[in-house]
Amino acid sequence: MATMEVLPLRGAISLYDKACVRCHGPGGSFYGSDLGKGKTAAQLRKMVWEMCIAQGGLTVSQREIDAMTAYHRSIMYTEPYIEVIAVTESKVTGEATPGTVLELQVGSKVLPVALTENRWNVLLDASKPATIIATRNGKTTRLPVGLGKFTLHQP
Ligand code: HEC
Repeated sequence: MATMEVLPLRGAISLYDKACVRCHGPGGSFYGSDLGKGKTAAQLRKMVWEMCIAQGGLTVSQREIDAMTAYHRSIMYTEPYIEVIAVTESKVTGEATPGTVLELQVGSKVLPVALTENRWNVLLDASKPATIIATRNGKTTRLPVGLGKFTLHQP
């Protein structure tokens, strides 16, 4: 029997919408194509960290900085971003890039998942392995369900 996890995490998309959107636009639309240009992964992460503190006025965990950096990488590569922010015995909650088509795969079954703005919820026996599949503009990313996991967009 898995232990019940109800840890409420802050997702990168809602943190962005709270602290960054006023300067960088919805979904990062004001960054333009120069976002991250000439920066290594470590430099982008450092920039995100500094921005969270200096401009966003946030107190952030290392996980949140990693997730926010991954979200920025998804903006750079126009790939859908997914994050799992709560897991209970029967329900999984997360965030995903608005406009993404989401599906849940459990074994050989694939079911549609509703996305409301950036938030999704799915009823699921969390002891069974499951994968969230996100498709947007012809690009697909897959994320195994697990508390605090997010899409890693490799540079
Ligand atoms: C008050 C406005 C403002 C807010 C709020 C703000 N930023 Fe910025 N951000 C800027 C400006 C101006 C620049 C470009 C100047 C610079 O490089 O320092 C920048 C640059 C960046 C860059 C580098 C962009 C590139 O092209 O590589 C990243 C990444 C970034 N911000 C992330 C964030 C994140 C994440 C947040 C929210 C936690 C945030 N910013 C909040 C003003 C803001």
